[in-house]
Amino acid sequence: NQVPVLTVDGPTASGKGTLASELARRLGFHLLDSGALYRATALAAQDAGVSLDDEAALAELAGRLALRFEGQRVYLAGRDITDPLRLESTGGMASRVSVHPAVRQALHQLQLSFRRAPGLVADGRDMGTVIFPGASLKVFLTASVEQRAERRYKQLISKGVSANLPQIQSDLRLRDERDANRSVAPCRPAEDAMLLDNSALSIEDSVVQCLGWWRQRR
Ligand code: C5P
Repeated sequence: NQVPVLTVDGPTASGKGTLASELARRLGFHLLDSGALYRATALAAQDAGVSLDDEAALAELAGRLALRFEGQRVYLAGRDITDPLRLESTGGMASRVSVHPAVRQALHQLQLSFRRAPGLVADGRDMGTVIFPGASLKVFLTASVEQRAERRYKQLISKGVSANLPQIQSDLRLRDERDANRSVAPCRPAEDAMLLDNSALSIEDSVVQCLGWWRQRR
């Protein structure tokens, strides 16, 4: 497959989603929000009454996810799940679902299918290490846990959702720990990834940096 891929990996609330969608928009590329697939699997499990520890049943659900992306909206088996998909609680469930190797395997092919001309920007935890190891540019985004918690807090408050900063920080630490230390596809930079710490950068600064790297890619 000669279609170029740019991967953006990094921990929870590092700003990956925003950066990736902006890069996709400016490059005119397709976008893969791989976290949405794990989140949707978690919601499907909840609907079906499947335990988040039942690896085989979860993998089965993941393997036949009827997901449809339409502009900004996401549908699961025809139901609009855009709002529940973004809930913190759904992210927490997704993190538990994603530790199972069979689930990751079941979602592998689906992720590859997003690679279509003229190009793809893929965001997640293992885009550069596992799913698209031959990507033309791999970015690994980081920011301090304090910064990430602060951003998530402001985001929630601005949406009118009540939030507690210390609680968000401890949830983030827990999720970082689980994502970084799982045995399969832990959240780590690929050896050839460009590291970008955006703690003190605006979104525009990060976009400009990545577009610069993209132009110089091998
Ligand atoms: O990025 P997002 O917060 O939507 O991801 C939700 C969870 O899905 C993450 O905490 C992580 O455990 C899992 N995930 C993953 N691999 C990916 C994307 C997300 O394990 N490529």
